[in-house]
This record gives sequence, C-alpha cells and structure tokens, in this order.
Amino acid sequence: MKYGYFDDRNREYVITQPDTPLPWINYLGCQAYFGIISNTAGGYSFYRDACLRRLTRYRYNNAPMDFGGRYVYLRDDESREFWSPSWQPTRHALEDYSCRHGMGYTVIGSTRSGIEAHTRYFVPLDENLEIWQLTVTNRRATRAQISAFASIEFCLWDAQDDATNFQRNLNIGEVEVEDGVIYHKTEYRERRNHFAYFACSEPGAGFDTQREAFLGPYRGWDSPAAVEAGQLTSSIAHGWSPIGAHQVKLDLAPGETRQIVFVLGYHENPIAQKFDPPNSQTINKALVKPVIAKYLDPAEADAAFERLRQYWAGLLDIFQVNTPDIHTNRMVNIWNAYQCMATFNISRSASFYESGIGRGLGFRDSNQDLLGFVHMVPARARERILDLAATQLATGGAYHQYQPLTKRGNNHIGGGFNDDPHWLIIGVSAYLKETGDWSILDEPVPFDNEHGTEKPLYEHLQRSFRYTLERLGPHGLPLIGRADWNDCLNLNCLSDTPGQSFQTTTNKEGKVAESVFIAGLFVYAGRELADIASHRRLNAEAAEYLAEVAKMEKVILQHGWDGEWFLRAYDDFGAKIGSKECEEGRIFIESNGFCVLAGIGLKNGKAAKAMAATHKYLSTKHGIVLQQPAYSRYYLNLGEISSYPPGYKENAGIFCHVNPWVMIGETRLGHGDQAHDYYSRINPSAREEVSELHRCEPYVYAQMIAGKDAPTFGEAKNSWLTGTAAWNYYAIVQWILGVRATLDGLEIAPVIPKSWPGFTATRTFRGVAYNITIERKGEGNSIALIMDGVPIEGNIVPPPSNGRKTVSIKGILT
Ligand code: BGC
Ligand code: NOJ
Repeated sequence: MKYGYFDDRNREYVITQPDTPLPWINYLGCQAYFGIISNTAGGYSFYRDACLRRLTRYRYNNAPMDFGGRYVYLRDDESREFWSPSWQPTRHALEDYSCRHGMGYTVIGSTRSGIEAHTRYFVPLDENLEIWQLTVTNRRATRAQISAFASIEFCLWDAQDDATNFQRNLNIGEVEVEDGVIYHKTEYRERRNHFAYFACSEPGAGFDTQREAFLGPYRGWDSPAAVEAGQLTSSIAHGWSPIGAHQVKLDLAPGETRQIVFVLGYHENPIAQKFDPPNSQTINKALVKPVIAKYLDPAEADAAFERLRQYWAGLLDIFQVNTPDIHTNRMVNIWNAYQCMATFNISRSASFYESGIGRGLGFRDSNQDLLGFVHMVPARARERILDLAATQLATGGAYHQYQPLTKRGNNHIGGGFNDDPHWLIIGVSAYLKETGDWSILDEPVPFDNEHGTEKPLYEHLQRSFRYTLERLGPHGLPLIGRADWNDCLNLNCLSDTPGQSFQTTTNKEGKVAESVFIAGLFVYAGRELADIASHRRLNAEAAEYLAEVAKMEKVILQHGWDGEWFLRAYDDFGAKIGSKECEEGRIFIESNGFCVLAGIGLKNGKAAKAMAATHKYLSTKHGIVLQQPAYSRYYLNLGEISSYPPGYKENAGIFCHVNPWVMIGETRLGHGDQAHDYYSRINPSAREEVSELHRCEPYVYAQMIAGKDAPTFGEAKNSWLTGTAAWNYYAIVQWILGVRATLDGLEIAPVIPKSWPGFTATRTFRGVAYNITIERKGEGNSIALIMDGVPIEGNIVPPPSNGRKTVSIKGILT
C-alpha cells in the first residue's frame, strides 16, 4: 500500500493521505537555520544546534504523535467552523489533501467547505529565517469571510532545560510586539544577544503571545479557544509559555485568491547594540527590520524560493544517471543525494527519532557522511574536516561527538571508541579524491581545540593510524576500546546495573577484547593513507604503512578467519565472537563486509567465501541482517547488542548502514547482480509498495529495518539521520555504477547487473563535465574507455587537454 507517489520531474514526494503510519518528514534549511517539518506541519526549528539554540517547541513521543508545529488554522467567520488545512492539529476531514516534500521545502494544503489553502514552507539561502506562504482561494459560488491564523510555540532556547526546568522557566518568558511583529526575547535581558521573531505580511486582526490565552485553559492545539471564538486576544506573555499567533481576516470573492506571508526568524545583535534606546531593555530592531520587511514581500519570497530551486538543481546536477532501474535513478538523482545533505548538516542530532538533545555531531558519523556529500559542496566539506580534526585528541583518539554550536568535543557523550580515528583518514581521503585540493593537508589544526597545539592536518592522519598500532591485543588485532563501529558491542563494559548507559558507563581499560572489524578498517584506511603519502612523494612512509597493513592482513587471515567467514571479535575473556563455535551471534555482517570491501582475502578465495556465507546466513528479502543467530538473552560480556529484543537494532536488525559494505564487497568480486539485488532490497523507493509494512518515508533510508527474528520483520525505524545515506550513495554511484573519484582522477569501472544494456550519466568532476555512456557488449566487467572518440588506456580518465570543460566518455563492457 502507498500513501502517495513520487513526482520525479519536480523532485518531490507527494503524500496524498495525511495519516501516514508515522510522520513523514522533510528538512528545511541547509546552512545554519534548520527545521524539520512533517506531512501535517508538525516539527520545529533551530539555529545551528538543535539542543542549544532551539527556536520552537516540539513534543517528542507524544500521544497523539507529532505535536508542536507550524500550525495554520482557517475559520469560516459565518459558520464559525474552523479547521487546519494541514490536517493536524484539528484533524478535520479534508478534500484533496496533499503534502509535497521537495528539495528544502514543503507545501501542505487541502480544501474544505469550498476553501482551498496551501502553505509553502522553506528557508531562503543565506538567511536565518523561514517563510510560510499561505495561499487561500475561495472555490465557492459566494463570498467567504475567512479568518486565517498562524501559530508557533517558542522554545526557551536550550531544549533540554526547556523541557525540564520549569521552576525557573515558567518565570522568564518575555516578548515584545511592535508593528505587528512578535519578538521572542527570553533571556535577552541578560546573557543572550539573540531573539526570534514571527511576522505577518498583512495588517493583523489580532495576535497572541501567551499560550494559555490562545488555547484556553485545559485545551490543546486541536481546539484553541481564541480560534474557536474567532478573535485573538492581544495577550502579552509574562513567563509561562510564550507563543506567536497571528490572525488575518480575508473577505474573498468567488474564485479570489489571497496570499499571506509569515516569517519566522532568528537574529543576533552585536552585543554593544542590543538595546534601543541603549540604556533600555528594549530590543534594538534596526538591523532585523529590513530583513523582515524584505521577505514579507511575496515577490521577494517567490524570488528566494526560485533561488533555492536553482541551488538544488545545481547540486543534484553534479551527478545524474539514467539506468534501466527507476528506483536507482530516483534515489541517486534526487533523494539519496538530498538525504546526504541532511546527514551532513544535522549528523544524527534532530529528526523524528533523534530528539535534538541527545547527540551532537559524531566524529565517526560525520566523517562517513562526507562520502556522500563531498562532491556537492566541497568547501563545506573542507570546513567540516578541519572542525572534526580539531576535536581529535593528541593520542590520535577522538571525542565521539562535538556540539555544532561550540565546535567543542562533548565528553559526557563518551569516548574511547577505537575505530573513530580511522574515519578521519577516510573522510580526508574522500575530500582529496574529489577535489585534488592537497593544501588541506598543510592546514594547522589543534588537538582538542587547544590553542598552541596546532599541527598540519596530515599529522592528524598519521596519529590516527598510529593510534591502532599502539593499541593491539593478544592476537595482534586492534583492541576494541568502548566499542567499534557497532556502538553496542560493549566488550569492556560488563554492566549489570539497570539504567546505566552502555555508551557512557565506566568502561574498563580492556587489554584483551579485540575487533576484527577495526582490523579491516585499519587495512582499508592504511592503504588510503599510504596512497596519500606516496602522492606526496613520502615513499618511505608509504612503504611503512603498507608493511603494517600487510602485517595486519596476515593477522586477520590467521586469527580473524573462522573457516567460512571472518570472525567478529574476541571478548574480554579471549573468547570468540562471530564464530561457528558460538551458540548465538555466529556470523556478523560488519567484519565480513568491511574486510572484503578492504580487499582482504580477494586472492585466496576467502573474500568469496565470506560473501557466500553472508548471503547464506544473513541475507533476507528485506535486506541483510547484522548477525545470526540473534541473541536471545542478555550477555554481560557483550553489552548493549544483546539488550535489544531479537531482530531489532544491533541485535540482528537489518542495519542499513552496513548493507552497502557487502554491496561493495560483491562488486570487488565482480558480482554486479548480487550487489544490485542487495541494493534494491533496502532501496526505500523500491519498498514504496509495502509502505504499510515499512512505515517510514519511502524517499529516504532508515537506520534499521526489523530483521527476520522480529515479530515486525520488514518494519523500518529511525529514518533520515543514518550513515546509510552516505554509504548507499557511495556504493551505488562509485562501486556499482563505478563512477569513482580517485586521487589520480575519475575512474570508470561499473559492476552492474548482467541484464542492463548499460546506462548514461553526467558527472561534473574537478570543473569538467563528463557525459558518460556505458554500453554492455558482453556479460563481464572489463571496460574499454573512449574519450571524445579516442580510446584511452586503463580505467582512469585523464584530465582533458586544451582546457576542455566538456568531455564525452564511452565505455564498452565486455
Ligand atoms: C544505538 C546505536 C547508537 C548508540 C549511540 C545505541 O543505543 O543502538 O545505534 O549508535 O546508541 O548513540
Ligand atoms: C548509530 C551511530 O550513529 C553510529 O555511529 C554507529 O556506528 C551505529 N549506530 C551502529 O551502532
């Protein structure tokens, strides 16, 4: 069953039924001001940091779900009937409901009682504000007297404090209303120099800023007393819960359309110019007023929207493909790339599943996100890399996360994840391959943000590599630390106290538990580093890295091989995890996927065996599960992984992030059919038909799909903010389609299904537009490349001579 359809031409997903199984959300903003918005206008906004600078309130895990939003109400002032054109929060029956989620914008609308209304929500480029363009049309044969209301609830900035510290917070709320604009200025009198505002383009028929005045006692957003009465009350918030609500009266002739623009924004004043007059407590609005005035003008709002459209068209055009598979095309050309921007910006911090409070930007996560994002805005990728590296510790280890507002490592989230440092090598390498900008390696970057400790970025990579060499266990494999990529494989935690977080609880400094996954990662990252070194002509150093990598490879094949597949780890007692000797958790995806991706065992048949075993024991119709058999009980020596009921999350769920490692592994074996088949199983567009089972959005990946041990096998959770976005994009584009950025240039090496006659693609790479046509003439993966009619040697396209900016590449697969 479907709840809508893809409109690929407009790059939109159109939801045609408001009661989707879960809120199906979109992101507004792609630079500093962000919002999440659901298909029924739920969601909230924040400036840079969903925890520390939240603008509006949202009630997570509420019943009914998805409460708090950018709510518009309409009221027929004659019949006194009122409703929400976005369905929530009043949930009246609507005709022609639709929600169009597009690239950085959402349009929600419907018709009721002959009144059609649509609101377009978006964040203009380079501004810290969002625009709501509400269009109301009278489809009746008679005049209509309509009141339109728009409302939001302000958050008192720190989302955690806002949700807990009521003894203080119910006293501090403050607003100003001037020229019909509502300014939210809680704490502005003291240490803040920022405020929010909510403005309306039309002369208002009323406003409210105190929640209880708007809603009425004991009422909710589904039946605000002031909307019901048809008149807002001009309330001014003194403490309690500041809101912004505007009312506009419309007298509409038959067929007449009116547009009202609302602007919700964030502004920072220079500290010395906070107040006007200077010795007062009144906000100085001189700097913000022109911005507000500009975007309340519908023509300016339209122009800003057009710029946003162009911006996205430009980003997506960097890589476009046309294959025989519509789901591949749609995800690669539109939604997967779009999701990569969201994960790059928001990391794992704010979605319907991430409360914006718990997590900042992950070191491991954000480095991996670069794989899917770097080609779109390389300058921002560069900045991100330098920020991430500045949170690295002098040991080469890393804070697991940092706060985007402060850019400081966040210690209370935990640390000591021994895989973390290697992702920096992989992130930097992806940047170098895309841009060829070697200067980044010479940038001075501090450790732990400490002034005076600056070293060239390159040294950060060297320390990342050494970090593992200094932490080897009894078999010569890397010690796991708190956990590796699998945050829930907590081998040194041994927690038997209820309520302890596995991520932060005391973790003993284990000298025994080892990770085969980190070993594979070390081999992969080590080769990347060696490549970087040899490109810098540091040949001796490159040779050293390769020698360590070869040593590790040997150790893996000796102590990390279980006969049919790669082992996963050794626990704190030296016992095997992910072995045929285990009762449960006999085979894991991560070590098998990553070791093969890293090329381990390709020559001696072990890689092929590992992939065959992965297929035999782990693959299901909904994707590849994380391990088998699922853990049926809690294991003290394993930690959080065994805390989940079988089939969910890290306990044998289909963890979509790691599926692409296996896809890439299959391409390394030349198995295009298998690789693409795995891809299709978790491709959200290909799963659209089973939306009632999948339940999450059909246009973005979810972190997890319940595995075969779960009673709800096939049900997705935790959509949007997952490393799945970057890795799937990387796997399909760079390994299956095989259009791959390398240090030496663009490589073309497709490993596509046998049944495909080929595909065409356009790729802008280092300033040159490549028009690529791949034609299949045989069933294999050997390719002959022809550049502008001239055959070239090998798979790597040389930079075009004579400064040509457009090049055609033909590839013949045999
Ligand atoms: C989740 C992991 C996540 C970790 C850290 C665990 O509860 O299962 O997926 O990586 O928390 O936030
Ligand atoms: C989600 C985390 O964000 C990511 O860093 C981790 O690798 C996976 N969960 C697996 O535990």
